[in-house]
Amino acid sequence: MVGTNSSAFHAHPPTAPTRPRPRRRCISAAQGLVKMSLPDSVHAVLSSYVAHVREFVANSSTSYLVALALVNIPLISIALNVLFQLLPRDKSRPPLVWHWIPVFGSAAGYGQDPIQFFLDCREKYGNVFTFVLLGRRVTVALGPEGNNFIMGGKHTVMSAEDAYTHLTTPVFGKDVVYDCPNEMLMEQKKFVKFGLRLENFRAYVSMIEDEVIQFMNKDSSFRIFQMNDINEWGRFDVLDAVSEITILTASRTLQGREVREAINKNYAQVFADLDGGFTPLHWLFPNLPLPSYRKRDLAQKKMSDLYIDIIRKRREAGNTSDEVDMIASLCNQKYRNGKVLEDHEIAHIMIALLMAGQHTSSATGSWILLHLAQRPEIVEEVYQEQVKHFRNPDGTWRSMEYEDIRQLPVLDCVIRETLRMHPPIHSIMRKLRDDVVVPQTLASPSEDGSYVVPKGDMVLSSAAVSQVDPLLWRNSFEWDPSRWADPEGVAQQAFKQYDDENGAKVDFGFGLVSKGTESPYQPFGAGRHRCIGEQFAYLQLSTVVATLIRRVEIKLETDMPKPNYQTMITLPKKPRNICYRRREFEQQA
Ligand code: HEM
Repeated sequence: MVGTNSSAFHAHPPTAPTRPRPRRRCISAAQGLVKMSLPDSVHAVLSSYVAHVREFVANSSTSYLVALALVNIPLISIALNVLFQLLPRDKSRPPLVWHWIPVFGSAAGYGQDPIQFFLDCREKYGNVFTFVLLGRRVTVALGPEGNNFIMGGKHTVMSAEDAYTHLTTPVFGKDVVYDCPNEMLMEQKKFVKFGLRLENFRAYVSMIEDEVIQFMNKDSSFRIFQMNDINEWGRFDVLDAVSEITILTASRTLQGREVREAINKNYAQVFADLDGGFTPLHWLFPNLPLPSYRKRDLAQKKMSDLYIDIIRKRREAGNTSDEVDMIASLCNQKYRNGKVLEDHEIAHIMIALLMAGQHTSSATGSWILLHLAQRPEIVEEVYQEQVKHFRNPDGTWRSMEYEDIRQLPVLDCVIRETLRMHPPIHSIMRKLRDDVVVPQTLASPSEDGSYVVPKGDMVLSSAAVSQVDPLLWRNSFEWDPSRWADPEGVAQQAFKQYDDENGAKVDFGFGLVSKGTESPYQPFGAGRHRCIGEQFAYLQLSTVVATLIRRVEIKLETDMPKPNYQTMITLPKKPRNICYRRREFEQQA
C-alpha cells in the first residue's frame, strides 16, 4: 500500500482535485480515442453518447450513482461473461460448459443432479469438459478411460491432498491423511490395513449381529417388532435406523469398547457437530464465521481428546488386553523412518476412519434396504439363502462366520448392484500441480491436437456416471442384482477389471491392490487412494442386512426416494420409511 501510494504521489504533481474530475478525464480520453480510430458517423453517435453520460454523471447524486452501479455491475459482468464465452476459444483447452453467471457458473446444475448434469454435458462437449463451480474451474473426464486418466494419474501432479485438505484437516486433525505428504498417508493406510486383518474380521461378525439384534429389541422404531406381533406392520426411517446401526456396529468393532460405551452418553452430539463441519459448504469455504465452523472445531478437539485419553489409559494399563479394535492395532506402529505413530496421530486416524465409514456405509445400507423393500421376491431369495446356510433343524439360527459371508451369492449381488447405482461418493477430485495433457483417445479438439488442462484446475472423476452409463450397461438405471450372476455379462467383466484376483496388482505402500483404474465399476475408488475399508464395509453391510432380513419382512409403501446430492454423500431424501413385519414369534423363555 505504501509503495503504491507513494509512487502515485510522486508521479503526479499535486493538483486541486474536485470529485468529478477524474471521470471527466476518462471521458475526454475516450473521446480522443474515438476520434482517432472511428469513421465520422460512428464518431458523432459515440460523442453524443459520451456527452450524455457526462452530463448525467455531473447531474446525479453519489448515492444514486452507487445504486445504479450496484444494479448494473452484475448485469455488465454477466454480459462480459457471455461475451467471453462467445469469443473463439483456445483450442488447446477442454470446452467450457456454457453458464450465464460468472463465478457461480454451473453450481446449480451440478449441485442438483451431478449425474444428469455430466450426461448432458457429455452430449454437448464429449468426455472431457470444464465447468465453473463457485469460482473454481473443474475439468471432468468421463467413461472408463476418464476414470483411468484421473484415478491412475500421477499423484505428484494430481493431488488429493490439495483438493481435500481444507475440508478434512479441521475435521480429522493434524498430521494425518491429507495433512501430510502422500507417502506418509500410504504408510498410515498400511497401519490401518493391519488392523483390518482376517482374525479381527472373524471376531467382528458376531459383534455386529449382536448389535443389530439389540437395536431391534430396544429402539423405538422397532416397537411393533418388540411387541412380538407377527401380523401388524411397523415402519422406520431407513436412514435414521441404518445410521444408528452403523455407528453402533463400527464402534463395537473398529472403534473399540470405550468408544462403544461413550456412544450412549454425549458422544452423539460431539459426532453430530463434527459431522456438521463435513459438508460441501465447508469444502468450498473452509473457514467462515458461522456456528457450524465453531462447533466443528470444538468437536474435533473433544473427539481427539477422547481418543488420546483412551490410548493413555490403555498404555498405563500396559496394553495387555486382547482388544481386536483399530486403536490396539495402531498403537506401537512405526513409520519406515523409525518414528512411532504418536497418540494424536492415532486419534486423528480414528476420527478419519469414523468419518470415512459412517455415511458411506449408512447410505449404502439404506439404499440396499430401500431397493429390497421394493422387490419382495428378491427379499425372499436373500431370506432363503440365509435359511439354506444358517437355519438349524430346530428352527434357531446359526451365527454367521466371516468365511460364510463370502459364500452368499444372492446377498453379494444385491450389495454390488446397490453400489453400482448408488455409489456414496459421486465426484472424486484432484487438484493439478502442473499442466496435464489429455490423451487423444479420451478427447481431443482435432486429430493432431490435444487438450491441456492447466495447473490449478480441479479434475473430477465420476464412477457414478460410468456405473450407470447407458452406453455400457443394459437397462442401466434399473436395479437388477441378477446382472451380477451372469459370468459373461458386462457387470462381471467390469468387476474382473476392478478386483481381479489373478490380475495385475500394484503396491502403493499399503500392500498389493488391484489396479482397477480402467474399470467402469469402481465404487471404492481406484489406484493409490483406493478405499481400505472395502472388506470391512462388505462385512458390516452383509451382516446387518442378513440379521434384519432373518427377522422381518420388508416392503415400501412409497416410491423409491430420490437421491440427495447436496450432501457430501449421496443419501436418500425423505420420505424414506420402510415397513416391516416380524417373521416369527419369539419363544419366550
Ligand atoms: C460402502 C462403504 C464405502 C464406500 C463406498 C467407500 C468409498 C471410498 C472411495 C470412493 C474412496 C476413494 C476416495 C478418493 O479417491 O478420493 C475411499 C477412500 C477411503 N476410504 Fe472408503 N468407502 C467406504 C467405507 C469405508 C470404511 C468403512 C472405511 C474405514 C474403515 C473407509 C476408509 C477409507 C480410507 C482411509 C480411504 C483412503 C483415502 C485416500 O487414500 O485418499 N471407507 N472410500
